[in-house]
Amino acid sequence: MLRILCLALCSLLSGARADPGALLRLGMDVMNQVQSAMDESHILEKMAAEAGKKQPGMKPIKGITNLKVKDVQLPVITLNFVPGVGIFQCVATGMTITGKSFMGGNMEIIVVLNITATNRLLQDEETGLPTFKSEGCEVILVNVKTNLPSNMLPKVVNKFLDSTLHKVLPGLMCPAIDAVLVYVNRKWANLSDPMPVGQMGTVKYVLASTPATTASYIQVDFSPVVQQQKGKAIKLADAGAALQFPGGYAEGSSQLLVSAALLTAELALLRKSFNADIRETMIGELPPQTTVTLAGFIPAVAKAYPKSKPLVTQIRINKPPKLTMNPGKSLLHLHGTLKMSAAQQQGKGLASIFVLEAHFNLKVQYSVRENRLQMATTLDRLLSLARKSSSIGQFNEKELTGFITDYLQEAYIPVVNDALQVGLPLPDFLAMNYNLAQLDIVENALLLDLKLD
Ligand SMILES: *[C@@H]1O[C@H](CO)[C@@H](O)[C@H](O)[C@H]1NC(C)=O
Ligand SMILES: *[C@@H]1O[C@H](CO)[C@@H](O)[C@H](O)[C@H]1NC(C)=O
Repeated sequence: MLRILCLALCSLLSGARADPGALLRLGMDVMNQVQSAMDESHILEKMAAEAGKKQPGMKPIKGITNLKVKDVQLPVITLNFVPGVGIFQCVATGMTITGKSFMGGNMEIIVVLNITATNRLLQDEETGLPTFKSEGCEVILVNVKTNLPSNMLPKVVNKFLDSTLHKVLPGLMCPAIDAVLVYVNRKWANLSDPMPVGQMGTVKYVLASTPATTASYIQVDFSPVVQQQKGKAIKLADAGAALQFPGGYAEGSSQLLVSAALLTAELALLRKSFNADIRETMIGELPPQTTVTLAGFIPAVAKAYPKSKPLVTQIRINKPPKLTMNPGKSLLHLHGTLKMSAAQQQGKGLASIFVLEAHFNLKVQYSVRENRLQMATTLDRLLSLARKSSSIGQFNEKELTGFITDYLQEAYIPVVNDALQVGLPLPDFLAMNYNLAQLDIVENALLLDLKLD
């Protein structure tokens, strides 16, 4: 019994501790999308238009015929977070209800009202997406004015209005709340779709759990799936410490936190595109890439190649790239082989001079373009250089440190930057535009402070 309890509890606990690869915090600024959803969907006007039509199952209202709703006022929507539940929504609006009254005359009722409901935030069982569901919709009459003759007993009029309006309005207005939520929910629709990372694979922002609501934001935890085009999903490395939002952001603001582990997994997809065969002899500020230049560092090259030959350099990244992030600084570590060969006469291929094993890191700068994370690198440091093979006998590869460092910066970094141009996809939700986001490198993650225009 205890064992079973522990099994259940322990799996729950470890589930709760599962380290998400990205976190999204949505403040009220983003949730005010609901306001624009209501405007964009013209839902109240549509409801008003429907009101006059006979609908199956809808009871006629005693005392009023030819009911119509017109002059619907632009709704003012107020939202409040309800911790643990979702969002409390109040739609304040007004409208004129017309019809033929029981007294035979044309009747006009001008009402000002509030529609309130709680939009519970759930995770859709089928799609796994966040979804709002409205509960407890109520219509509160704020003010009612009529053109009913004033010689009628006020009590009778009031009773009539009260019972009539309370009967007709919820049925008329509450579907509007649901319809707006359908509209808002649709704006999450593509959140967990696979998005391409170049040609090599995809990333999918899958929810790790039901989004959590606090008094000032909604938090969505993602367990992203990085999938190779042909092959298995790439597991995100365990970062050790749990991903956490740093403090100091304004209440109600919105942020996205992308872990270094997620970016590292995505870069693993791009590893092959970091390989390069470089044949140009004149590259930037570098001396001509020939055996003569190389002989200046390693005299044995001159013996093997008395006549100057162009150099061909082949770089193969042979370990998955690794990204590290510390406040203000991000480095991309690359491990690979660097093979220098002399170009032979046409058709004779290449003659390998030596192969070096190299470990170097690049300093990364981040930006956003077209809702993709862009990375631009510069060489930080050549960390190690070891001779793996040589056709010119032994030599001290340390003599090449300066030459290789310059070479990586001038000839190879442009190749890496070119490959990185594919960009890394950011979560697609609520029509978010990331272009105004402010980026900050924090401990083990990149923080995007989301700004709306
Ligand atoms: C109706 O909504 C408005 C705007 O949110 C609010 O100021 C007002 O107090 C509400 N009135 C009632 C009667 O609930
Ligand atoms: C979701 O993707 C489909 C197909 O690419 C697109 O037509 C639709 O506009 C997208 N929806 C949203 C809300 O971005």
